[in-house]
Amino acid sequence: MTKKINKIERREFIKTSSKYFAATMFFGAAGSNVFGGNSSVKSIPSVTLNNGIEMPMLGFGTLYLTDELGVRCVSDAISLGYRLIDTATIYGNEESVGKGIKQSGIDRKELFVTSKLWVDDSGYEGTKKAFQTSLNKLGLDYLDLYLIHRPRGDVKGTWKAMEELYKEGKIKAIGVSNFEDEHLEDLTSGFKTVPAVNQIETHSFFQQEKARKSLINYGIQMEAWSPFAQGRNEHFTNKVLAEIGKKYNKTNAQVSLRWHFQRGIVAIPRSSQKAHMKENLEIFDFELNKSEMLTIANLDLNKTQFPEWS
Ligand SMILES: NC(=O)c1ccc[n+]([C@@H]2O[C@H](COP(=O)([O-])OP(=O)(O)OC[C@H]3O[C@@H](n4cnc5c(N)ncnc54)[C@H](OP(=O)(O)O)[C@@H]3O)[C@@H](O)[C@H]2O)c1
Repeated sequence: MTKKINKIERREFIKTSSKYFAATMFFGAAGSNVFGGNSSVKSIPSVTLNNGIEMPMLGFGTLYLTDELGVRCVSDAISLGYRLIDTATIYGNEESVGKGIKQSGIDRKELFVTSKLWVDDSGYEGTKKAFQTSLNKLGLDYLDLYLIHRPRGDVKGTWKAMEELYKEGKIKAIGVSNFEDEHLEDLTSGFKTVPAVNQIETHSFFQQEKARKSLINYGIQMEAWSPFAQGRNEHFTNKVLAEIGKKYNKTNAQVSLRWHFQRGIVAIPRSSQKAHMKENLEIFDFELNKSEMLTIANLDLNKTQFPEWS
């Protein structure tokens, strides 16, 4: 019985993904819905958030990329074609990210910059102050996306402040991270603004299919953190991903990122190596078929690979 339900659910999500994929590629081809791109890398398709803002479907994560390493990596990533840069107050690298952006020479308007409010700053006053500190450190005068990092502390006070900052135009879209259904229920019942994004742990070994469906119902864009599970569980040498990749001459990293994309999920892989950054962008010139999507679905262990963060 369970097997049957799983089969039906998987069939349904592939149908949804392919519709989504067709729409994304259509807009991509029209040229009005793509970010970045240079001579070696195809432009990155974007998704329209619930408030009309465009968000690239693939971005660059910056956890652990601090100090000079952070500056260099962010600048390299932008020069290669990344336009979405994901940071957070708790990463301690907003200054480095800001310097990397400056060093890249890119027009601010071309970028989609995300930061996150840490739990210690939760509440109305704390949020206003922390947001301004993040802007100052980044050297920016607005954020494209500001997320509540974890559903802890005074979430409602935080959301009230974020709604105000959003209305003032200091943030283009506001959202959450690591929120489960109960947290979303609480937030969406008390406020006018529905989060635009929920950034949650998502990779081959924790696929979050239930959350993906639920977020579609809320109209909230799902974003995957640790899209490679940081290489845990031997992600980069996984035989199933490698076998699929062989057919397209793609690596495990590329197969994974393509799988996220075809599920309609924004992914933000991190790398400190330029070759990996480039490799991770090269996912828009092949398409996984239904049976390959199903094969990857079967890798799901349905549990976090980061129990230390729960
Ligand atoms: N909201 C949250 O609570 C939360 C939590 C965790 C992460 N995040 C965000 O999500 C981003 C991504 O997650 P993550 O940084 O935890 O891990 P990840 O992106 O899943 O994995 C990063 C690891 O993959 C390696 N890698 C990257 N590309 C590769 C390739 N093509 N081939 C082989 N290895 C490759 C990197 O090594 P090299 O440097 O050697 O390439 C690095 O060790 C973070 O940076 C952060 O922005 C958010």
